[in-house]
Amino acid sequence: MSDNKDQIRTFVKEELEIFGGPLYMPESQAEQEPETIQVNTDNHKLTSFNSEIHNCLNCPLGASRTKFVFGSGNPDADLMFVGEAPGEREDLAGIPFVGRAGKLLDDILKAIDLNREDVYIANVLKCRTPNNRDPKKEEIEACEPYLIKQIEIIKPKLLVALGRISAMTLLRTKDSLTAMRGQVFDYHGTDMVVTYHPAALLRNPNWKRPAWEDFKKIREMYRGNTGEAT
Ligand code: URA
Repeated sequence: MSDNKDQIRTFVKEELEIFGGPLYMPESQAEQEPETIQVNTDNHKLTSFNSEIHNCLNCPLGASRTKFVFGSGNPDADLMFVGEAPGEREDLAGIPFVGRAGKLLDDILKAIDLNREDVYIANVLKCRTPNNRDPKKEEIEACEPYLIKQIEIIKPKLLVALGRISAMTLLRTKDSLTAMRGQVFDYHGTDMVVTYHPAALLRNPNWKRPAWEDFKKIREMYRGNTGEAT
């Protein structure tokens, strides 16, 4: 009986810590920008790479974007997240994951004792697609070399694909998200795992529980790969 109570307490604590906010988040809070990232990236290879490519017109999305969304966070991060493509708010801000999905991602990071200054976040596509439609094959082909170069510069110890599009792109597979979750892939020598996209978690709250299991593993692997104490 008391075991049950403990389990319930843990469950409620986790739900509140990670998912309480976004599930019940009032619109005004949903519109807040995430915390400002205080990482000095001056003179970093990544900054010069951004300068080289930020006027990109290699695919038609270049002409319709407001801002090129290169990526943000710690350029020397051991943990890197890869999302799909900027949405409306990211297109306006020039920063990935600043909308509701970004707020959820921030909360999840916090729940595994991390914040945006500890990680790097980028997308497969650097420009918004019209009405946030799925990226086209030719758009991914045009943009993926940028992501590959970012990964080469950052050299994370753990790569996390957020959602199927990101995982399919990085792993060159058509497998389902279900098939990919729970596995550790080798992305050119870097450990890589796949989990739900935060926007999918907002649409399907039932996936939050398995997502939390994924993020607990991510925390464990991150600590293991970086030699951080648990
Ligand atoms: N969804 C993404 O995949 N990336 C963002 O930057 C925002 C929403």
